Amino acid sequence: MKKLIPAYLRVLIIFFVIFGVTEYFVDSGDRPAFIKYPMVSLFLFVFLFLLIAIEITISAIDNVTYQLLTDDQKSKLEEENNKSFKEKQWYKKLMQSLTKTEPIENEAGLLLNHDYDGIKELDNNLPPWWVYLFYACIVFSAVYLVKFEILDGDNQEMELKKELAQAKIDVAEYMKNAPDLMDEKTVTLLTEPADLAKGETLFTTNCAACHRADGGGQIGPNLTDENWILGGGIKEVFHTISNGGRDGKGMIAWKGTLKPKEIQAVASYILSLKGSNPKDAKEAEGELWVEENK
Ligand code: HEC
Repeated sequence: MKKLIPAYLRVLIIFFVIFGVTEYFVDSGDRPAFIKYPMVSLFLFVFLFLLIAIEITISAIDNVTYQLLTDDQKSKLEEENNKSFKEKQWYKKLMQSLTKTEPIENEAGLLLNHDYDGIKELDNNLPPWWVYLFYACIVFSAVYLVKFEILDGDNQEMELKKELAQAKIDVAEYMKNAPDLMDEKTVTLLTEPADLAKGETLFTTNCAACHRADGGGQIGPNLTDENWILGGGIKEVFHTISNGGRDGKGMIAWKGTLKPKEIQAVASYILSLKGSNPKDAKEAEGELWVEENK
């Protein structure tokens, strides 16, 4: 029996569609699902086996039915099967319903009384495929009109703006939960003793050599007074420690050595030293720092 697609191709196509679907839906990281989960391989194998079994059964049944047909029926079936795709009854019906063409013999009945220098006009039906398209456009335009003109739906620009605003919120949220990604815009002053103790350790290890263990200043300026060369808010101090001081002054950028979280801790520690008045501290440098947001 002649079919549109040969049996072996059909089996392969169905198998690979199912294969693709399982790979798509089974989340298996960077390895294919059928390697990561043996159950998936087993399922695919059984599925392939069933497909082949079904094909064999169908062709066997076809064979038996064919043997039971009378010679007349056999030849009719033969004829139908040998017809090309376009000659098949269902295809013709479909085309007719979409185009509603009148056979050329009926032309006389369609002729209108219009005659333009020998050019005549036929009164054909509008092809249904075209008419359906037109209806679809009307429905679309009604929906469009209501959504965008009456209910004031977002146009593309608005949609973009909203998405960008949402993205900003998402980034801020993400930064909150991932302090290692903190920067000088999102840094906050820590006041917990545990954090300050961490900051103190970092300070003693890395900074005391120049700023003195008590922050009173030596090569580097006094960090305990009210005066700051580069700004004395948490954001400014964080910036100074991350990016270093002015060129040639000796304060290097620490962002390659310390993690943002550590810079936050040591910056908070420094700010906690304010007003501690260590002995023999270096005299004040820079400007008196006034917190703007207070
Ligand atoms: C090699 C010496 C040296 C080391 C080590 C050092 N600093 Fe400095 N620091 C300086 C100098 C010098 C300045 C002044 C920079 C300027 O004038 O631009 C400074 C400035 C600063 C300032 C800005 C002070 C102001 O008045 O604005 C801060 C804050 C600071 N250091 C923190 C630290 C921290 C925290 C560490 C350790 C992680 C550290 N420093 C390590 C030498 C050092």
